[in-house]
Amino acid sequence: MSIAVSQKGDVFLLSTQSTSYAFGIDDQGLVRHLYWGQKMDCVEDFEIPVLGEVSSNDPVPEITPEEFPVYGGLRYKEHCLKVAFADGTREIVYGYEGYEVAATDTAEELVIRLKDTHYDFLMELHYKLYPAYDLMERSVVVKNHTGEPIQVEKIHSGQFHIPYEGLNFSNVHGHWGAEQQRFVQKVSYGKIVIENRRGISSHNHNPYFILDRDATETSGEVYFGALRMSGNFSGVIEQTPYGETLAQLGLNSHDFALELKPGEAFEAPSILCGYSATGFETMSHNLHRFAREHLLREGLRPVLYNSWEATEFAVSSQEQIKLARKAKELGAELFVLDDGWFGQRHGIDNGLGDWYVNESKFPHGLEELVGEVKALDMLFGLWVEPEMVNPKSQLYQDHPDWIYHFETRTSDTSRGQYVLNMAKEEVQTFVYDMLDHLLTRYDIDYIKWDANRPISQTCPQRDIWVKHIRAVYDIVTRLKQKHPHVLFEACASGGGRIDYGILGIFDDFWTSDNTDAYDRLTIQDSYSYIYPIKAMRAWVTDCPNFLSRRVIPLTFRYHSAMMGTLGIGCNILKFTSEEVELSQKMIAQYKEIRPIVQEGDFYRLDNPSANSYFLYQYLKGDQGLIFAFLPQSQMGHWGTTIRLRGLQADARYTLHTPDGDVTKSGHYLMHHGLPLRLTGDYASTILSFTKEA
Ligand code: DGJ
Repeated sequence: MSIAVSQKGDVFLLSTQSTSYAFGIDDQGLVRHLYWGQKMDCVEDFEIPVLGEVSSNDPVPEITPEEFPVYGGLRYKEHCLKVAFADGTREIVYGYEGYEVAATDTAEELVIRLKDTHYDFLMELHYKLYPAYDLMERSVVVKNHTGEPIQVEKIHSGQFHIPYEGLNFSNVHGHWGAEQQRFVQKVSYGKIVIENRRGISSHNHNPYFILDRDATETSGEVYFGALRMSGNFSGVIEQTPYGETLAQLGLNSHDFALELKPGEAFEAPSILCGYSATGFETMSHNLHRFAREHLLREGLRPVLYNSWEATEFAVSSQEQIKLARKAKELGAELFVLDDGWFGQRHGIDNGLGDWYVNESKFPHGLEELVGEVKALDMLFGLWVEPEMVNPKSQLYQDHPDWIYHFETRTSDTSRGQYVLNMAKEEVQTFVYDMLDHLLTRYDIDYIKWDANRPISQTCPQRDIWVKHIRAVYDIVTRLKQKHPHVLFEACASGGGRIDYGILGIFDDFWTSDNTDAYDRLTIQDSYSYIYPIKAMRAWVTDCPNFLSRRVIPLTFRYHSAMMGTLGIGCNILKFTSEEVELSQKMIAQYKEIRPIVQEGDFYRLDNPSANSYFLYQYLKGDQGLIFAFLPQSQMGHWGTTIRLRGLQADARYTLHTPDGDVTKSGHYLMHHGLPLRLTGDYASTILSFTKEA
């Protein structure tokens, strides 16, 4: 049992394989945080110190490290919950009501029940443990048992307390075409806030926190949490004046309010969290394994060809058929027809919403292309952007009231389109029926679900920020129940929609519209801290790259894309015979190594050289891979040393290099390492290794 309760029933010690988390109920009934760190088995050792007022300006509730601080009383710190009762009272005073423990095959859950002392308003704090992954999931459920509505103005699933000052905080920054740029900053006094107000996730920050004590990949303490929700989030990190750092993550309270009618309950988005005493690698491995084994659909992801960069909106049945045949010749397994196939879609500002096949582009219907793709023994995928509508569309003419708008204001278009109000039931029905119809009528295996603009001019209801995305989750979940073989890809103008809320509801994720193979190395590196490789779609595209104008050799482009789930987005009809041959070779190699890439453990290897090598390792059972990149040779450089990780020290491993096989002990490979020298610009290689029997 991973949940230990003290004999007095006032302390709870939650343990996973190597971590523990403790809290207790203090003499005032506050749920008081006690510990988060390495595993301990000593619930009776915990004491809950009685806190006294330090001064009138440092009152007890303010200095108490609470698991779930509510708004009210002498609390001025970040709170997790603020509500307004029907009589105008905006303070919660809770009392502890008891706890329950439940267990499933993979998780154990503790529920702490709290109740307002005056109103019939209940709060449940859920702590779900995944012992094998050293992860815990925190969520909160609020229930209105009063006879009147309650307004929820802020709700976060919990506060974390880290007993240190001077931590490092890391997340990503970025924008379209430059997602996932990792940054690290020192936590000092004042608050660090990361947030999104766009509704459609974002390319800017990502809903997670990582706090470390000068950790490296393999050493040092790391505390982390990832929000299981797409859309508007906020994360607050604060070093308090009381010798600790607190962290919060949840629904953004910006422009948010939710009415809880009598009898209604609301579950706030949960937070997947954990602690590592051994650096970032353990954090990544635990999250990746959990995502692979619990959230993501089983099976290897196919090598896809997507025609977007080749044809953009100018699609035609015959051209797509030619591309599909060529993609098959190269070795692709899935052909995805991107934007432009429907309605009067000839550019960005028309057609969205009219999801019928454009007859002039597909005179024999979509059946002709689908039939051809199937005859080639490939899977067929189709692009849609279901949450959007262009003003120039039949859908908008018929239902102008379906978009987000205020009656007295003009809604802004962005990329020539409006956002549909997904909180409306009739819109949900339309989107579900439209996709169900497409999936029923055509033999479709893959849906690329795009979302190319943020929400604006919402509507009078301030709960759409959560209702919108939950409607998307619900529609995809129902479609997958009815069409279980169909894979869903989440895309939002590139990588604007990756988080632990959508992971698993969707199966595949577009990482960035930036397909420059060099830029992708840093994007992919940052992405891998939190998200699994199986959820990182990477394409090889044409050069000069449409964004960077950089020209990079095809081999380097393949190697960079082979680090994730491989796709090809080139205009392959223009390929020379050498490019065809190289592509065939690379795709065949990818298919061989794919189980290790997509389902192995991923290591960001150290580069001891001053030259800017990018070194990565994948390890699955007895088999491993090394990816090495040298974008630019520097003056007088010598090679680098590859020190592998995660090997069995006393086992022997054979490394297959272009100069022949090398067999060494795990010990040697991890500590001494092997020399590697790449020369020239955009040099790259993939080496494989195997553990000897
Ligand atoms: C943005 C996506 O990121 C691209 O891959 C492509 O699907 C376009 N939208 C199509 O409009």
